[in-house]
Amino acid sequence: MGLWFQKKTELDLSQLVIDCHNHILYGVDDGCQTEEESYIVLDYMIHTLNYQTIVFSPHIMKNGFDNTSDDLKTHFEQWLPRLESRYPRIAFGLWAEYFMDENFQSLSKQKNLLTWHKNHILVETAMNYEDMNCQHLLYDLLMSGYQPILAHPERYTYWNKQLDTLEHLKEMGVKLQLNLFSLEGLYGNSVKKWAEEILSNNLYDIAASDIHNSRQVDFFSTLKKNSKLSQYFDTIQNSILCSK
Ligand SMILES: [Fe+2]
Repeated sequence: MGLWFQKKTELDLSQLVIDCHNHILYGVDDGCQTEEESYIVLDYMIHTLNYQTIVFSPHIMKNGFDNTSDDLKTHFEQWLPRLESRYPRIAFGLWAEYFMDENFQSLSKQKNLLTWHKNHILVETAMNYEDMNCQHLLYDLLMSGYQPILAHPERYTYWNKQLDTLEHLKEMGVKLQLNLFSLEGLYGNSVKKWAEEILSNNLYDIAASDIHNSRQVDFFSTLKKNSKLSQYFDTIQNSILCSK
């Protein structure tokens, strides 16, 4: 009886199908540092949670993580044969988490951006101050034919409780991505509450882990019991990133 009850109340995270925001590609940013650490994270996500597609999204940020598309592609392609041999039924991909700075602006003009599922692009903006250029950059991306996905809007503290700002971004055509661990308090209680509010207003399109290291794997097990996530789980549309 106890086991049955537990099964009924635990959320099946395999319904998310794809994790499109993570720092599992080792040794290129503040994420996993070694191939072995990456395997600890991947083993859990694939064998325990049953994710089917993992798309790596390393940081590209001037004066922080000066990665280039070519360097990241080379690193990924060198790793891919070992990944495919270890996880034969899983699809792996690469794009990036772009910090929207001046460097990004020039990259986007050169059309030299790592995208996923045709034209989707994952972008982030400053956490602690509002970059007044942010909305213009998102608009320019849309006008250039990209589909921007704004990473973890709940973490931009200056927008806290500003549902109208997020609604405006959605009306522009920007998609919003929830960091799953925000709901578990990884970034503090205020971010957690704000993420819950965005979720209950059905404003998120995508949910992803943004996992950085093997210690964070523990957050997945508590997430399966998260009542807020289970209540609004159906509003998440990760499948749009899987369809052809
Ligand atoms: Fe990230």
